[in-house]
Amino acid sequence: MNPGLPSMLRLAYRVARPALFALDPERAHDWTFVLLRTVELSLCRLRPRLSPMRFPRLEQRVAGLVFPNPIGLAAGLDKNAEVPHVWTLLGFGFAELGTVTAEAQPGNPKPRLWRLPELRALVNRMGFNNRGAAKVAEDLANKLAYCKSPIPLGINIGKSRATPLERASEDYAASFSLLAPLADYVCINVSSPNTPGLRELQRADHLSRILDRLQTENLRLVKAGKIEHPCPVFVKVAPELSPDDIVALADVVRSAGVAAVVATNTTTARDPHRAMPMPEGGLSGAPLRERATQVVRQFFRQLEGRVPIVGVGGVFSAEDAYEKIQAGASLVQIYSALVYEGPGIVPALCRGLARLLERDGLEHLSEAVGRRAW
Ligand SMILES: Cc1cc2nc3c(=O)[nH]c(=O)nc-3n(C[C@H](O)[C@H](O)[C@H](O)COP(=O)(O)O)c2cc1C
Repeated sequence: MNPGLPSMLRLAYRVARPALFALDPERAHDWTFVLLRTVELSLCRLRPRLSPMRFPRLEQRVAGLVFPNPIGLAAGLDKNAEVPHVWTLLGFGFAELGTVTAEAQPGNPKPRLWRLPELRALVNRMGFNNRGAAKVAEDLANKLAYCKSPIPLGINIGKSRATPLERASEDYAASFSLLAPLADYVCINVSSPNTPGLRELQRADHLSRILDRLQTENLRLVKAGKIEHPCPVFVKVAPELSPDDIVALADVVRSAGVAAVVATNTTTARDPHRAMPMPEGGLSGAPLRERATQVVRQFFRQLEGRVPIVGVGGVFSAEDAYEKIQAGASLVQIYSALVYEGPGIVPALCRGLARLLERDGLEHLSEAVGRRAW
């Protein structure tokens, strides 16, 4: 990436932001995707040599995958996996697409997305609006046939709203069998607050059942020659977990061979902004930062650093990303910061992280992981 590009991107976004913020948030998202789809189409047609933004000091190896830098796109922005190559172009080291459900569904009624600029936060109750695993898989397969992704692509899967909790494992398995052949990892979302009952699936018995079912599916796909080796399974958790919940979940994670924990999803808590009127839904952005970091730290301790963690929640600066890494995260994801700061934030975070390592006399990012977990 051209060295001047990050500041140019940030400046361009600062100019464009007032116009975008004058629109209803979901409409702004849809318009942005009109532009991104055009870029994706050009990338597929022209097939330029798309190389990832590499930072040798920041390169990470997690779940047998190589991440050219540790900053990833969090789930929920590219719900239908429409623009997989655009995320490389914007400098991301990986991207988590979805959430995709087995059945196509419209999500909750609108309005369902709000900005809270004074808090640098968003509230959403989208409710897994997506085209369904079969359609998403078909479209994504076509795009990846043009050119493979130079960065790891994860696909986040959730339970279809119409499926009762007792049949959740079958529902996840249906999405998994269609999407795992296209993904570098699959992330099981049991933590969105916007699908009734979903978070109950974080209970050890439910989660073990889902994970066992997916590992069986993994073996079946390998045997059928649809994948070369079992697809790594990540699990995304909520920020409201109690210390006891984390102990129980960490046991499941270890025994079921989960490849990484993604911490955390959005929060339903409103502290310390209780007095402020806010819509119902999941809160993301700056108010989530501290709690998400605590959850990363608690998982890191409980797992004794043996299962990698992806830290997500309220990362706006290199210092915020470093805080997650020092608490135990090997990788970091962002969503809200992209809305408030624009795409120039990705290279800025990577540069800032490289500077923080230099300051602390560390050769490589991996030396910082979990340094402040104890
Ligand atoms: C509008 C919106 C939609 C989201 N949709 C999903 C989703 O479909 N699946 C998911 O796992 N997380 C979803 N998230 C949560 C994000 O992936 C992330 O965990 C959360 O926003 C915290 O990160 P942030 O503070 O950087 O935004 C969504 C977040 C937002 C703001």
